[in-house]
Amino acid sequence: MSDERPIGVIGVGWVGLVTATCFAELGHPVVAMDIDPQKVRALSRGRVPIHEPGIAELLERNGERLTFTTEMEDVLESARLLFCCVDTPPTYSGDADLSRVQAVVSQLPEDGQYALVMKSTVPSGTGRAICRDAPGIAYVSCPEFLKEGTAVQDFLHPDRVVIGAGAGAEWAAAEVEGLYRPLGGKIVRTDVASAEMIKLAANAFLATKISFINEIANVCEEVGADVTEVARGMGLDRRIGPAFLRAGAGYGGSCFPKDVSALKQLAGNTGYHFQLLTAVIEVNELQKRRIIGKLQKHLGPLAGKTIALLGLAFKPDTDDMREASSLVLASRLQGEGATVRGYDPVSREAAAKLLPSIELTDSATDALDGADAAVIVTEWPEFAELDWGSLRDRMAKPVVVDGRNFLDARAMRAAGFAYEGIGLANDGARPNEAESAESAEAAPR
Ligand code: UGA
Repeated sequence: MSDERPIGVIGVGWVGLVTATCFAELGHPVVAMDIDPQKVRALSRGRVPIHEPGIAELLERNGERLTFTTEMEDVLESARLLFCCVDTPPTYSGDADLSRVQAVVSQLPEDGQYALVMKSTVPSGTGRAICRDAPGIAYVSCPEFLKEGTAVQDFLHPDRVVIGAGAGAEWAAAEVEGLYRPLGGKIVRTDVASAEMIKLAANAFLATKISFINEIANVCEEVGADVTEVARGMGLDRRIGPAFLRAGAGYGGSCFPKDVSALKQLAGNTGYHFQLLTAVIEVNELQKRRIIGKLQKHLGPLAGKTIALLGLAFKPDTDDMREASSLVLASRLQGEGATVRGYDPVSREAAAKLLPSIELTDSATDALDGADAAVIVTEWPEFAELDWGSLRDRMAKPVVVDGRNFLDARAMRAAGFAYEGIGLANDGARPNEAESAESAEAAPR
């Protein structure tokens, strides 16, 4: 048994669980605390309460290095470096709700022994306030850049690790750097406010890239260009890069919508109107409305029509439905009087809670049976493997709106579908010259 002091992890949600299991994988003892006894019980028995590739294996392999508890005392007894991973959900006004962070700070002794390493996303200024109000706690800002679905790989192979040390926290920053250095990413040592801003600015920039390519897609539809070709050509410029240029139904998840609003709000609180982010948010909303417009183009009024949503999670490889496009689409479609069915390979449980008024099916095929149209909301690989040729006959109308440009457009059209993506050239035809509802209905069965 190692006599190394354990790393403390406070909050075992998605960020905390990835942090805890990855540090254990790197050979460190970890004591992880969460106020939810059910979660702690499940993890202590080796059961992972979230869908994140690789976590179950890490938990199984490193069980003896990981302790889960509901008691803060258990953490404070042995750990000195405490990674704060509690969530900071947006409030109604768009500000981040910091009550959970404040609850953690209030439980830490101010005897100069403990360091709080902030992984939770907090607005710029939070660290400074904690340093001011609790000077006996060494404060380090170390924002996380993990992506759901690839979090384990992202943790173990970071592009960079940002470490902002508060006053008197150099010892803690050096320890944090020591933990991450073996992973090989660039280490950015900076001050607390800049570290916090790096996190918000990075997420806001990525969201801006997505809204930008979505607007390009909308223009492509008007001029008969293909956004996937445009993104490919743009992305080859190293100053632009190919990542986050996939047009679609807009970004979702627990991070981009929250962080873009938080940054906009943060700027607003200082009297600065962040115009660009206002547009980024508006474009993201508009993308979902465009899906409804595309369905109406093929089906006319949606009242009484049955629409199958394929994919409910905010992206593949996660069961997370926070701010997922499916939520907005389902409620808009129901508002139009449509009957909505939904299928997702892993987020059925979350969907049952968040979308209680839609019919959840056990398979994509069941969702499509007799449906007037399908919308690809999440690009789960299994949707590309469906036998669309035979499914066409099972649908009432062969209409597919692909909100992720995921299926093979040519193959779908060749199979007799009225198929629309986002910003895709329509085999040379302008989108408004594409197959109409009538021709879709007349498609050979
Ligand atoms: C995002 C960031 O990518 C992470 O670096 C960051 O750590 C994390 O937020 C966070 O702040 O915790 P995540 O929300 O897991 O990660 O998901 P992404 O893979 O970034 O996707 C976000 C959304 O953008 C998804 O809805 C996805 O479908 C959409 N997206 C992504 C696009 O519409 N187009 C793209 O080209 C890329």
